[in-house]
Amino acid sequence: MSKAIRIHTHGGPEVLVYEDANPGRPGEGEVLMRQTAIGLNFLDAYYRSGLYPAPNGLPLIPGSEAAGIVVEVGPRVDWLKAGDRVAYTMPVGAYCEERVVPAARLVKVPDGVSDEQAAALMLKGLTAEYLLRRTYGVKLGDTILFHAAAGGVGLIAGQWAKHLGATVIGTVGSDEKAALAKKHGYDHVINYRTTDFVAAVAELTKGAKCDVVYDSVGVDTFNGSLDCLKPRGLLALFGQSSGPVPPFNLGLLAQKGSLYITRPTLFTYIAQRADLEAAAEALFSAVASGVVDVQINQRFALADAAKAHAALEGRQTTGTTILLP
Ligand SMILES: NC(=O)c1ccc[n+]([C@@H]2O[C@H](COP(=O)([O-])OP(=O)(O)OC[C@H]3O[C@@H](n4cnc5c(N)ncnc54)[C@H](OP(=O)(O)O)[C@@H]3O)[C@@H](O)[C@H]2O)c1
Repeated sequence: MSKAIRIHTHGGPEVLVYEDANPGRPGEGEVLMRQTAIGLNFLDAYYRSGLYPAPNGLPLIPGSEAAGIVVEVGPRVDWLKAGDRVAYTMPVGAYCEERVVPAARLVKVPDGVSDEQAAALMLKGLTAEYLLRRTYGVKLGDTILFHAAAGGVGLIAGQWAKHLGATVIGTVGSDEKAALAKKHGYDHVINYRTTDFVAAVAELTKGAKCDVVYDSVGVDTFNGSLDCLKPRGLLALFGQSSGPVPPFNLGLLAQKGSLYITRPTLFTYIAQRADLEAAAEALFSAVASGVVDVQINQRFALADAAKAHAALEGRQTTGTTILLP
């Protein structure tokens, strides 16, 4: 019998249970795939804890990105066949050995990109793509601040932003992480556990501050992020690893210099098939040309997903983490 990780109740990593799961057969427009690598994401912890509501209630199979091999193709799928290497990102359902997936959400994995890399890239890499190219078009001469620079999204984003010509400032929670971020595109890295990052950004930019701040840390960094922006700068708040930002007074945006703020999510940016294809092509080209090197720094068996969640939420991981079915 095929296996999956399910949650039957919200809670800590201990609610992740490894058990039997029948994937079913592919219907019209669907594909059965055997998964070979599954990416670990903070999003998975939000669904596990209940911060994000389960789309179809409990029980829930978490997991938001994976790669594998097509096993069987359902009716009306003419562009895929058994044996093709494919990958996807969807909000939930990836923590399993086999899965039926809508073909419209799949992309073919090009030669030269491994299954593990594809699994790591589909959510984290496509997030870097839309944040740097579409939420705000990073360009030569820009100064950007990216929090959690040594994380899964952070290491990909640093390399890509540097390639786009920006001065890239990152924040991290340890000196080891600072050294890693510096090898991945960041010009300047601030340990925000020991240094006031607002003062450090002001000093590094000689008071000019940043065109855009990418903040996935949330409550702990939000106010400081606003203070790192130039007048009319943009804050892209795209996560809450330290906890959600409470409601705040919009008048602050005027006081701090007519600032902009957005709370984007990848799934809006790839909802249309054409957008998914264009974004995946840009991402895989960035990997093939060496602009982005994907760091897979931790591997866990799928059955040990609870250990992987504890490591991610305990700030013990760097780069990306893969679960192996
Ligand atoms: N909106 C979207 O489209 C989208 C898509 C993908 C990811 N995200 C968000 O992007 C963020 C990064 O995702 P990821 O999967 O690549 O994770 P990650 O960055 O590898 O891990 C999260 C990092 O956040 C930092 N952090 C700061 N305060 C923390 C705290 N109190 N508890 C735990 N971690 C804390 C830690 O790095 P330091 O120790 O260096 O501080 C930690 O390693 C997450 O918030 C995720 O939800 C959003």
